[in-house]
Formats: sequence, C-alpha cells, structure tokens
Amino acid sequence: MPVAVLIPAAGSGSRFGGDIPKQFRTLGGKPILQHVVERFLAHERVGRIIVAVADILVDEARQTDRVRFVAGGATRQQSVTNALAAVADEDLVAVHDAVRPFFSYGTLDALLEAAAEHGAAFPGVPVTDTIHLVRDERIVETPQRSLLIAAQTPQCFRTELLREVLARAAGDDATDEAGLAARMGYDVRVVPGDAVNFKITRPEDLERAERLLTQSSE
Ligand code: CTP
Ligand code: MG
Repeated sequence: MPVAVLIPAAGSGSRFGGDIPKQFRTLGGKPILQHVVERFLAHERVGRIIVAVADILVDEARQTDRVRFVAGGATRQQSVTNALAAVADEDLVAVHDAVRPFFSYGTLDALLEAAAEHGAAFPGVPVTDTIHLVRDERIVETPQRSLLIAAQTPQCFRTELLREVLARAAGDDATDEAGLAARMGYDVRVVPGDAVNFKITRPEDLERAERLLTQSSE
C-alpha cells in the first residue's frame, strides 16, 4: 500500500532571510525542495507527494502524476491541512519539512511501521542543552533534560488519524503534528532520529548542508 507524503513548503523563511524562501535556495546546485522530493520519489513505498507552496507558485509548478502542488496557508499547520485535503486513498501519510534534505530511509521505514501499528510516530533526538521555560526574561520551569526529545520529521500517521487531529485543531498554529495528536490522547511513538536530519533554519545550516553533501560525494 503506497504512502502519501505531505511537504509543507509555503513558509517565508524569516529566520533564514534573503530574497527567496530557503526551500528554493540551492544546495549542491539544485533547490533544497527538489532534493527532498527526489529522495521521497526514490523510496519504494512512496506513492504521491503533495507539496504545499505559496499560492502564486501553484500555477507555475509542474504538476505530474506523482508530485502535486497545492496552495499552502498562513501557518505550517494550515499548509499541512491543505496538502492532506489532496490525499485520496493512501492509508498512511508522512509529513516532512521541505528543508530537511538528509532524512534516512531507515528512519522512514521504522516510522511507517510504528505508524501502521500505533497510529502515529515521529523521529526524535535527545536534547543536549538544558532547556528552560522562560517568560518575561525569567525561568518559569526547568524540565528534566533526560525526558526532553527534539522532534524532527518525517512524522507518520494513519491518514484518518491525521485528518481527525487537524480537523479538531483547525485554526491552531502547531509546529508539529505529533504534539497535536498526543494532546488529543493518541498514542504517538518516538523512533530514534538522527543529527544529520537537521532542519535548514539559518544561513549557517545551509553551509553545513553543503559541507555534508561534499563529504558524502567524496
Ligand atoms: N511552512 C509552510 N507554511 C507556512 C509556514 C511554514 O508550509 N505558512 C513550512 C516551511 O516552508 C518549512 C516547514 O514548514 O518547510 C518548517 O517551517 P520553518 O522551518 O519554520 O520554515 P519557515 O516558517 O519558512 O521559516 P521561519 O519560521 O524562519 O519564518
Ligand atoms: Mg516557521
């Protein structure tokens, strides 16, 4: 049974800066988004990929049988919701940031297996820094570090579960779907992620990505 992939790619990349949104910046000569789409296309279980982009780009985009472009929304959550609306009959979906070009097939396979069994799964890495909850420049709380996990993507779900979660959370602005599903009481499993699957957020992340790409082709 093929898996549908949803890629929210309608952000403006405010932390990255520059003239064009970071997902269209080149990495090793081609756009970051293209790296991500090609990596999914080459995976045996992936059927269709639905990419949410800024509305003005939808008409320009080259639609194919396997890669569809839809209009994103004002928030990442809305972009994912719009992409999900284009999913037809796939039982499982993977939601992946347009700017994480180094996800591994091993992790994706483990996530799909966990999502099929439990309903929802995401890749997580233990945090190395101590994290404080801060308000008005003061520490409010310091969660025990050994319990903290940083969430990556791809986040995988049974399609019906994600539909239900996003419908109930309509109008919210969550930065990941795993947290939303957990908040609603679903069993959301963590699968080991890995440091190389970082999100390109600031310019130095793109430099790191270029170095990684050069090393892996040497
Ligand atoms: N995203 C989206 N629609 C939005 C906002 C974000 O599809 N309205 C996507 C981004 O394009 C990216 C992913 O969500 O692929 C992760 O978001 P993030 O790294 O925060 O990207 P941006 O929101 O573009 O960056 P920033 O927060 O720095 O503005
Ligand atoms: Mg953002």
